[in-house]
Amino acid sequence: MTQKLFRIAVDGPSGAGKSTIAKAVAKRLGIDYIDTGAMYRAIGLKMLRLGIPMEEGPALTEMLAETEIDFAGGNVFLDGEMVNDRIRTPEVSRAASDCSALGSVRGKLVELQRKMGNTKSVIMDGRDIGTNVLTDAEYKFFLTASAEERAQRRHREMVEKGQKSDFNEVLEQILQRDYNDSNRALNPLRKADDAEEIDSTHMSIQDVVDYICGKVCN
Ligand code: DC
Repeated sequence: MTQKLFRIAVDGPSGAGKSTIAKAVAKRLGIDYIDTGAMYRAIGLKMLRLGIPMEEGPALTEMLAETEIDFAGGNVFLDGEMVNDRIRTPEVSRAASDCSALGSVRGKLVELQRKMGNTKSVIMDGRDIGTNVLTDAEYKFFLTASAEERAQRRHREMVEKGQKSDFNEVLEQILQRDYNDSNRALNPLRKADDAEEIDSTHMSIQDVVDYICGKVCN
């Protein structure tokens, strides 16, 4: 008997816990996790490395045509190179946000994401999954938390990793990214009309994972 494919779309602002939660849901349900933010980060990293300006132009078009992004075993590969850590710096976060406003970048990545979501059951997280990439996903969630709580979580995470972190700076960066992601012209961050909103400000990761798995399994 073939099992019916299903797709879970999880959107929401930076730092709401989307990737941690999506990873845990994927593991519990035995499906693939696709981190679309990592794909924008990989393109941002490549643009920085090659010195390609953050605007449309022939250099960008050419680069996109010869770029490959893959996921395997929970790792992200850019042209065959594992870039898990290299895409997590503040510089690359900014580049990812900037390049995600460009139509040619979104066009290439959305096409890839749709292909990934059409052949197997997946949970995919990002900003426009429910509104644009997988509009017919069987399950859609919009995960939020207050900006202060999101900044607190990120700040704690950096301190635990032994990295220098200033809470006010982290909050400022989160507010700036919220603004950029919600106000860009192309597919801005928005809750899909048929998505269920989960405010995780006062919920643990486990609570949210249980909640989503409960919805999917019922
Ligand atoms: O989720 P993240 O922080 O890793 O995403 C990095 C950037 O990519 C973020 O600024 C918004 C952008 N992004 C997007 O525009 N669309 C998506 N589906 C996923 C991420």
